[in-house]
Amino acid sequence: MAKHNDRKKISYPGLALFLVISAINTATADGTGKVVFEAQCQSCHDLTEKAPETLKQLWERKGPDLSSAGIKYKSAWLNEWLQNPTRIRPAGMFYGNHIKTGKKTDVVDPSGLVNHPRLSSEQASQVVEMLMTLKRNENLVTSGEYRPGSIPMMLGEMMFDKFKGCLACHQIEPGYGGLSGPEMYTAANRLQEDYLISFMRNPQSWEPKSIMPNKNLKETDLQKLVHYLRALSKEKFQ
Ligand code: HEC
Ligand code: HEC
Repeated sequence: MAKHNDRKKISYPGLALFLVISAINTATADGTGKVVFEAQCQSCHDLTEKAPETLKQLWERKGPDLSSAGIKYKSAWLNEWLQNPTRIRPAGMFYGNHIKTGKKTDVVDPSGLVNHPRLSSEQASQVVEMLMTLKRNENLVTSGEYRPGSIPMMLGEMMFDKFKGCLACHQIEPGYGGLSGPEMYTAANRLQEDYLISFMRNPQSWEPKSIMPNKNLKETDLQKLVHYLRALSKEKFQ
C-alpha cells in the first residue's frame, strides 16, 4: 500500500511537467509564424485590409493580398519562394511607377524596384504554416474543379496570345509578354489549379478593381488554359 502511494507521488509531477511542456510546444507551433509575420511582413501585407475600392487604392497597395493564401498558393512553392524570392510582377505592384518608354515598346525601369525580404528555412516553415490557414473567399473556389489534362503547347500559346489577348499583360517567358500583370511562366507552380480556374472565370470577384478583363471564358477554355499554364511551368527558362 505504502509503495503504491509513493509511485503516485512520483508520477503526478511527471505527468504535470509533461503536460506543461506539450502545451508550450503547441503554443509555439501555432504562434511563431504569426509573430514573425507581424514583425516582418504585415507592414506590406495587411491581412485585415478591405479589397481596394478605387484604382488609386489598388495602386497604393504595398504587396499582394495574402488573406486567401491557404486556397491560393501551393505550400511547397511558398516555402521555397520565401527563402529565395524571385520577381513575379516584372514592374512591381503598380507598373505605372516602374515603366519607361523604350525605343519600340515600354521597358521596366528597375531602379525603384525593391527586392523582397528573405526568410530562413525555419522561419519560412513557420510562416507558411500560418499562411495556409488563411482562407478568405473560400466560397469562390470549388475543390477538385480542375480536371488534369493536356493541350499541345502551340495551341495553348495561340489561345493565350492571339485568341484571348492575355499576352498583352502577362509574360510567358522571362522578357516576353506584357508587364502589367504577374508573370505566367511559374503561375502553375505558385498557384493552386482550382484557384486559377476561379480567378480567370471572374477576376473582379477576387479583385474588384482588377484591370484584367473578364473575357467570359467558357468552362472548357478555363480548363485548357490551366493545362497550358501547367505545361508552361514545366519548361526551364534561364
Ligand atoms: C517592403 C514590403 C514587403 C515586405 C516587408 C514583405 N513583402 Fe511580400 N511582397 C511585397 C511585394 C511588393 C510583392 C510582389 C513581388 C513581386 O510581384 O515580384 C510581395 C510578394 C509576396 C508573395 C507572393 C504573392 C503573390 O501573389 O505574388 C508572398 C507569398 C509574400 N510576399 C509574403 C511575404 C512574407 C511572408 C513577408 C514577411 C517575411 C513579406 N512578404 C514581407 C512586399 C513586401
Ligand atoms: C489588361 C491586362 C490583363 C489582361 C489582358 C489579362 N490579365 Fe491576367 N492579370 C492582370 C493583373 C494586373 C493581374 C494581377 C491581379 C489583379 O490585379 O487583378 C492578373 C492576374 C492573373 C492571374 C492570377 C495570377 C496571380 O498571381 O494571382 C491569372 C491566372 C491571369 N491573370 C490569367 C490571365 C489570362 C488567362 C488572361 C487572358 C484570358 C489574362 N490574364 C488577361 C492583368 C491582365
